[in-house]
Amino acid sequence: MPHPRKSGFFVTFEGGEGCGKSTQLQLLRRFLESKGHHVTATRDPGGCARSALLRKLLVEQDSGNWDALTEALLFMAARNELLQNVIRPALDNGDWVLSDRFVDSNMVYQACGRGVSAEAMALLADLVVADTLPDLTIVLDMPVEDGLGRALAREGSAHESRFEQLDVSFHERVRQGFLDIAAHNTHRCVVVDGRGSPEDVHARILSALERHLADKR
Ligand code: TMP
Repeated sequence: MPHPRKSGFFVTFEGGEGCGKSTQLQLLRRFLESKGHHVTATRDPGGCARSALLRKLLVEQDSGNWDALTEALLFMAARNELLQNVIRPALDNGDWVLSDRFVDSNMVYQACGRGVSAEAMALLADLVVADTLPDLTIVLDMPVEDGLGRALAREGSAHESRFEQLDVSFHERVRQGFLDIAAHNTHRCVVVDGRGSPEDVHARILSALERHLADKR
């Protein structure tokens, strides 16, 4: 059933491992809050209790080698919980919703990365996401070696490294997958160079956001 049109503004952060999404999401959140906006920050998977349960099954080191379609379905199931419990209520409340990953990751990791058909992913996305698509998707891009180096050096998340351990060609397909999605969806996607200091990248994101909002006016 179609969901009534939301009133908030939905921003997703996408990109390969170690691209700096989480840091940038927090910087944008702080910026928006300093301007008096109400912000709901979340992550996919993991932004509500049942999505977090599924996240454990999917991204922890010993979480098993799922069949690629099973994996795609579980990520989509986690997203359905997040949409129902967090994202749609927040958008209906007029919030800015910032999500660390969303459905583009599903297309990129499970279709481009693991070989699930793009048609199957599109069907699942139609069913679960329907018209709750992001207003703006920020794709943080950088060479695979830079991102993987940062991800592997990250402290405290060693139990969550299943996807980081896949080979470099997997991550090259992921990078290209995000760039292709951005090229085909210029109305909602911007590619931002993720290299440099967090402050530099944040400044690039703010100018991309301003341009996007100006274009929509
Ligand atoms: P994160 O640590 O950036 O939150 O992402 C968790 C891992 O899950 C990351 O390697 C990307 C992967 N992932 C998928 O494979 N499919 C998906 O649909 C999503 C949202 C994430």
